[in-house]
Amino acid sequence: MKRAVVLLALCACNGARSQSVDAGAVSANATSDDARIEFRVEGRVVRSLTLRAMRAAIESESITNYDPYYEREKRFRALPIERVLDLGFQGANLGPLGARPFVLRAGDGYTVPMQGSRLLEGGAYLAYADEAHPERWEPIGPRRSDPAPFYLAWKLRTQCNLETHPRPWQLAVIEVARFEAVFPHTEPTGHAEGSPARRGYATFARECVRCHAVNREGGRIGPELNVPQSIVEYRPVEQIRAYIRNPLTFRYGAMPAHPHLTDGDLDDLVAYFTAMRDRKHDPDAPVARDAGYAADP
Ligand code: HEC
Repeated sequence: MKRAVVLLALCACNGARSQSVDAGAVSANATSDDARIEFRVEGRVVRSLTLRAMRAAIESESITNYDPYYEREKRFRALPIERVLDLGFQGANLGPLGARPFVLRAGDGYTVPMQGSRLLEGGAYLAYADEAHPERWEPIGPRRSDPAPFYLAWKLRTQCNLETHPRPWQLAVIEVARFEAVFPHTEPTGHAEGSPARRGYATFARECVRCHAVNREGGRIGPELNVPQSIVEYRPVEQIRAYIRNPLTFRYGAMPAHPHLTDGDLDDLVAYFTAMRDRKHDPDAPVARDAGYAADP
């Protein structure tokens, strides 16, 4: 029987967070040589490479570092991301990749925006095997997901904070794309640069979108925050602020605390959600029907 118990393990670096919403343990396997990763530029596929092809072109390394998900030292067989990106985007005429914005997409819908400068700062690796378990990956995260085929691992001591150095597993797509192009309906159009709604949008893009969608665009781990009802339509503002800062005082859920957000940051997030309340976009909404939730007389 599957159990829906969520273990919230707090690691030395950062609060735990979950990626996959699949309940129950998985049977992880080793990544096959036929496993593929897709390289895209703003939605267009420019190349799809098998692990076999990447291993033939790039020398593998064994990297060891503290892993905040496993909460201990882990050793992976891995390819340096610089070489992987060079191979994947070869001939795409993108100029220096460090100047480009990226989006990393996992097979389970997890989407992480990341600047090229971060991805290429040195220390990022595309891991394809768990060295202590060559036959099968050790399951990862609070829901014991299968990390295969690829896991983004960071090698340096200074790179074990999941907020600054996210580690998507089941990595399937590496895309060069501007945030607004990937998630066009999350933008508070009409609000000037530097306004509270724009500042809140920047915080949302940096800290929230990998788990939450606005207007059906973004992560699927947490609830959608704008449609059909915006979070500011059904929760009092004070409650939203308190929830974002420390969700564990409300429920034992999978959302990490955000103690580093200032009161000003929370004001900006509320300004952003309020702006989006008036910019709803929900093309896949079910046909409107009267739900019949009339108040009892
Ligand atoms: C690692 C994933 C993750 C991140 C990052 C995250 N959340 Fe959440 N959030 C969740 C999940 C999962 C829930 C559902 C309840 C729970 O598990 O705590 C949730 C619940 C919420 C709720 C309550 C929704 C409701 O109707 O009860 C709000 C508001 C919220 N998140 C806002 C944010 C904001 C704003 C940020 C960024 C500052 C953020 N979250 C970052 C996963 C995340």
